[in-house]
Amino acid sequence: MADTKFTPRVFSGIQPSGGLTLGNYLGAMKRFVDMQNAGGFETIYCMVDLHAITVWQNPNDLKKNTRELCAGFIAAGIDPEKSILFNQSQVPEHAQLGWLFNCVARMGWMGRMTQWKDKAGKNAENASLGLFAYPALMAADILVYHATHVPVGEDQKQHLELTRDIAAKFNHDFGVEFFPIAEPVIEGAATRVMSLKDGTKKMSKSDPAEASRINMTDDADAISKKIRKAKTDPDPLPDSLTELDTRPEARNLVNIYAALAEITPQAVLDQHQGALFGHFKMALSDLAVAKLAPISTEMARLMQDQAEIDRILGRGAERARALATPILAQAYDIVGMVRS
Ligand code: TYM
Repeated sequence: MADTKFTPRVFSGIQPSGGLTLGNYLGAMKRFVDMQNAGGFETIYCMVDLHAITVWQNPNDLKKNTRELCAGFIAAGIDPEKSILFNQSQVPEHAQLGWLFNCVARMGWMGRMTQWKDKAGKNAENASLGLFAYPALMAADILVYHATHVPVGEDQKQHLELTRDIAAKFNHDFGVEFFPIAEPVIEGAATRVMSLKDGTKKMSKSDPAEASRINMTDDADAISKKIRKAKTDPDPLPDSLTELDTRPEARNLVNIYAALAEITPQAVLDQHQGALFGHFKMALSDLAVAKLAPISTEMARLMQDQAEIDRILGRGAERARALATPILAQAYDIVGMVRS
């Protein structure tokens, strides 16, 4: 259950590290739009550029990718009037609260993060300190707004558990009930979109195989080619989901279809049971093109007006700061910082 003492507020972020995928769209962005439109929440969405630089980013690419991500948010349905939309580095309160949390979180907690282990791998000595501390900044992103709900894909679950641990330890250490214990929102058919070439691997922008993913910038042709070439098996679609437990590629395409059509995976099977993949992939390709091609077209249009994108980000940052500033000031006060 979410903390009821706090205003219902949604926060989530996406790294502007280039190459938004169908996984980012179905697992995150589309859910952000749903929560924005559902009402009942204030919604805050962020391009987390300070997170992106925990691994090397070319400065010009980082700027381009931040603007492209902003265009992606808007093209997918985020309304910068309804939601607060901005890039993290324009709201310094994130990094300031992040420092306090560096002093709350324990080394052991950070060392257990699977994303740290995956990204740093055997070369941890050479990874940046920022990459190790990353989850404390992520906790600050959320808690500097007293956010109560955080929509994310499955791969962020552990980071959100850590966010809850940091909030609880801060509250406990200082004897306050200041930070909410934020609720992860990991729901729907596409919380973990898998590679089109290997149903046991997450679809990711860092996979060297371009055919393994659909990018949000892909045009209709590229989308349908990638779906037609996706790995499958020779069996027809079954009538029950349990029969897909041992068929990860088939299960992934059913989940993608369900998320795009906004129906359950079982409803997809009800409609397509008995179909061979040649046929199902045609239906999926038509659906994906209908849903995604207008987004990539709109992104390209928005990208032509960089000044307008920068204006939206600046305005979003101003609104975000108005919420974050008093919360940071109270946190400083609780910790014992003199503010004259
Ligand atoms: P990032 O930038 O890697 O991914 C952004 C969002 O996309 C989701 N996602 C997926 N969902 C389903 N299937 C996939 N294959 C897939 N790939 C990515 C992610 O789960 C995420 O929701 N640490 C975060 C960014 C972040 C953040 C935050 C999120 C920073 N501060 C505060 C929430 C709240 C990250 O690296 O996401």
